[in-house]
Amino acid sequence: KPSELVDAFGRVHDYLRISVTDRCNLRCVYCMPADGMVFEPDENILSLDEITEIVRVLAEMGVKKVRLTGGEPLVRKGIENLVSAIAGIPGIEDIALTTNGIFLAKKAEKLKAAGLNRVNISLDTLRADRFSLITRGGDVHRVMESIAACQQVGIDPIKLNVVLMKDINDDEIEDFLRLTIDSHIQVRFIEYMPIGHNDMRWKQSYLPLSTVLERCHQLGWKVTESHNVQGNGPAQTFRMEGTKGSFGLIHPVSDHFCETCNRLRLTADGNIKPCLYWSDEFNVRKCIGDDEAVRQLFFRALNIKPKNHEMAKALVDESQSHVPTGRRMSQIGG
Ligand code: GTP
Ligand code: 5AD
Ligand code: SF4
Repeated sequence: KPSELVDAFGRVHDYLRISVTDRCNLRCVYCMPADGMVFEPDENILSLDEITEIVRVLAEMGVKKVRLTGGEPLVRKGIENLVSAIAGIPGIEDIALTTNGIFLAKKAEKLKAAGLNRVNISLDTLRADRFSLITRGGDVHRVMESIAACQQVGIDPIKLNVVLMKDINDDEIEDFLRLTIDSHIQVRFIEYMPIGHNDMRWKQSYLPLSTVLERCHQLGWKVTESHNVQGNGPAQTFRMEGTKGSFGLIHPVSDHFCETCNRLRLTADGNIKPCLYWSDEFNVRKCIGDDEAVRQLFFRALNIKPKNHEMAKALVDESQSHVPTGRRMSQIGG
């Protein structure tokens, strides 16, 4: 049945990203401040039953794909129970997880058994010392163990999210691409997005993803665009000749993909967020139990969804006043 979730620009929505917590066991430099982060009080966080109820109503409206994000979704107690509850909802065809991978090795088997189809793992560097700097203390070996554990239990495809940063990890493009030679992995490079006014770190480290294709060209690697990778998120996908895996480019800054946006977001405290880069939100918690009220609130949110974000203006506008300041990336889940 076609989705009823159509916005004012005719975009059809069938993908819900749910942030299940605003907490994280790491503090990546581009995502959270080192300290002073204020977290949502527990009583404001949706319960797993409340999340399940919202997904049930949305599945009836046309959502087919659900992604659990955070903060770090694996710090939320009972996450595998949520996966299995969502997997049992008629109409849901794909359940995925975006995680930093630190706690995944231990949970991969349980998550798979609960009905998890796919994982996207954030991994910005393959070097232990750098990983510790970027994440402010994380251990890259645990992420590597998690990748192996996912392969072992048959979670496939595994996607690796690499936020490309000038002078921080741009010398590892080749190493990341080499991971796709022998294994059925998708490496996705992501353009660093500015958050908040005058994001100095972003100004220093942003790099357009044309850098990746230029690097392939320099190396003499033959690259073709490919369309048969599971998931209909924002990545443009490519394959190098003769490799088992593939790579993706997610370039919201240099070339945004808003015309094809099929995503809605739900924050851990129950706000519907029609666009990652827009401050407007609608709290759905009070509607739970009244399906029609939930439906109407999603229609209201969709109705004001903007045509596109204005992130690229930050490249030319010193004040970066077009970048909404309402939430940090860790509170939205990307
Ligand atoms: P697939 O279903 O596997 O394609 O996943 P995905 O790419 O949709 O999800 P993931 O959580 O791995 O996100 C990868 C990157 O894309 C993150 O940096 C997100 O912030 C970014 N991203 C996802 N959706 C949007 C979007 O609607 N707008 C923008 N600007 N960035 C997005
Ligand atoms: N720009 C681009 N990607 C980001 N992520 C977090 N913050 C940013 C940012 N400022 C990524 C994480 C994770 C995904 C959900 O979003 O690395 O893989
Ligand atoms: Fe969709 Fe907003 Fe992302 Fe654009 S920025 S792709 S409109 S969520």
